Amino acid sequence: MTAPLHPDTVAVHAGRSDLEGLGVHALPIDLSTTNPLPDIERGGDSYEAMATGGRPPADGSLVYARLWNPTVARFEDALAEMEHAEAAVAFGSGMAAMTAVILAHTNAVGRRHVVAVRPLYGGTDHLLGSGLLGVDTTYCEPHEIADALRPDTGLVVLETPANPTLDLTDIADAVRQAGSVPVVVDNTFATPVLQNPLDHGAAMSLHSATKYLGGHGDVIGGVVACSEQTAEALRRVRAVTGALLHPLGAYLLHRGLTTLPVRMRQQQESARRIVQWLIDRPEIEEVFHPGLDGDPDGILARQMRGSGAMIAMRMRGGYAAASAVVTATSLFTHAVSLGGVDSLIQHPAALTHRPVPAEARPAADLLRLSIGLENADDLIADLAQAFAALPGTEPVGVSPEAARSSR
Ligand SMILES: Cc1ncc(COP(=O)(O)O)c(C=O)c1O
Repeated sequence: MTAPLHPDTVAVHAGRSDLEGLGVHALPIDLSTTNPLPDIERGGDSYEAMATGGRPPADGSLVYARLWNPTVARFEDALAEMEHAEAAVAFGSGMAAMTAVILAHTNAVGRRHVVAVRPLYGGTDHLLGSGLLGVDTTYCEPHEIADALRPDTGLVVLETPANPTLDLTDIADAVRQAGSVPVVVDNTFATPVLQNPLDHGAAMSLHSATKYLGGHGDVIGGVVACSEQTAEALRRVRAVTGALLHPLGAYLLHRGLTTLPVRMRQQQESARRIVQWLIDRPEIEEVFHPGLDGDPDGILARQMRGSGAMIAMRMRGGYAAASAVVTATSLFTHAVSLGGVDSLIQHPAALTHRPVPAEARPAADLLRLSIGLENADDLIADLAQAFAALPGTEPVGVSPEAARSSR
C-alpha cells in the first residue's frame, strides 16, 4: 500500500482525476446551462436522481446546470478530500451554504430549534435570529450546549476560531454535548490546512470560500464538507432553491486550493510577528489571536495545526482611536472580508457584526485584521504610522528599516 499523500500534495492534485482521460491539463470550465438528453426515460431518471440530491447516473444526462455541473463537482471533490470528508457541496456564497445547512436540518426534517455558540459571523448570527428561516435559536457559550438542547433541536452551529475575536471552541467536546444532534463547524478562519472538524466528530465543515479558499478577493462562494448522506440533503436544497456556485467561481476556487497551504503558512507567520509587535504597543488594550493566552484548555494543540492569520485588537483610545486607525493605514485596506493575499482592516461592530443584537455585538474599540502576503515589516510599519497619527499619541513611527532590524 502506498503512503497517504501529504496535504500540500493533495491540495495540488485533488479533484483532477478525470483530466488525463479528457486529454487536458488545466481545469476545464463547463458553462452549459442545459445538456443533451439520450432519451425521455433516461433523461427523466437523471432528473429525478439529481433533484432529490443524488449524483448523475452513469448512463444518463446532467440535464440542467441547477442540478449538476462538472466544474463545480471537481472543486467539491477536491475540498472534500482536503477536509477528510466523503463529499462536499458548493453554494453561491457562505451564507447560501449556511442557509442550506439550516433548512436541511430543521424544517425539512420537522425540527425547528437551533443551538448556536457565540460569537459568530454577524451574518450567521442574524440569519439564525431573524426568523427568516422559521427557526428558533438559543445562543449559548460552548459549555452550555448540552443544557440548551431541546427535543426539537436539529442543529448545533459553531465557529472556531470565531469571527471576530478568534475564540476557540473544543469541537470534540461540543460534539459530545450535542449527542445525536449534528454539529456544523464554520471552518472559514482555520481552513482545512489548519483544522479538519470532521476528524473531531463534527457532521459538517462549512466555509465562506470567498475568504482563504479563493484567496484573491475575486470570487464569492460557500462549501460544506460532510458525509454523502448529508450531501444528498444539501444538494436537494440547492437544486430546489437554486443557491448555485457559478462554474467560473468554482474554477477560481479550485485553482485557489492549490496554493492554500503555502499562502496560509506565510500569512500565519506574518500574523505571528505582527501579534508579537502589537502586544507591546501602548495604543493597544488587548490583542486576540489563538494561543496568545497560552492555550490553557489545550484546544489549539488538540484540534489545530497553527494559529492562523487573523488578529483582533482593542484600541486603548476607544472608538475614536479605532476610527482614526482604519483611515490612516495605507497597506491595510479599510474593507470587510478576509483571507486574501492583501491585508484588510475593519471595525466589526459597525460592519460585519452590525446586525448582531447590542448585547452580543463586538466592542466599539475592536478592530479586526486579516494578514495578507505583504512583507510583515512593511505591515508593521504601516500600523506604526497609523498609530502615530492618533490624537494624544507621541510620534512612535517605525520605518520599514527599523522594523526589519527589530526582528
Ligand atoms: C466566518 C464566516 N462565515 C460565513 C461568512 C459568510 O460568507 P459569504 O460572505 O461568502 O456569504 C463569513 C463572511 O464574512 C464569515 O466571515
